[in-house]
Amino acid sequence: MKSRTLLVTLALASLATFGAACEGGEPTGATCPDGSTLTYASFGEQFMADYCVMCHSSTAEDRHGAPKSANFDTIEEIRAKADDIDSAAGKGPSASNDWMPDSASVAFPTATEREQLAEWLACGAP
Ligand code: HEC
Repeated sequence: MKSRTLLVTLALASLATFGAACEGGEPTGATCPDGSTLTYASFGEQFMADYCVMCHSSTAEDRHGAPKSANFDTIEEIRAKADDIDSAAGKGPSASNDWMPDSASVAFPTATEREQLAEWLACGAP
């Protein structure tokens, strides 16, 4: 009986995880601290280059199925998708999202880099 309850619990837990992964994640609730120094030049451009544009770019050789509507080549495209990016890959007080990069990626950001991403987006991606 005990192990059966455990099995059911495990099954429900994996279903919940899978469900969340399919929809991306949740808003991180990150806020922009006074004196934030993160900019596109100092952070965002390199973050996207390291972890995202190999799939999310109009010039990507293999998008691995990334939607054509989601390219992060320019700051304008990133700002337009800021909420989606936060929920896909950001880390903050309300959520820690690691839906992106996709599992086919070769490199993954650290927790600190995910926090910086959420902060930078919360500041309006300056
Ligand atoms: C290895 C390829 C790959 C990498 C790298 C990657 N993605 Fe994705 N991305 C995908 C795929 C595939 C989908 C579609 C997933 C789905 O709908 O189930 C997607 C979907 C998304 C979406 C939803 C877009 C929409 O309009 O539906 C966002 C936002 C996103 N990715 C952000 C990012 C961010 C931010 C990074 C970098 C931290 C990143 N991705 C890195 C492959 C990738």
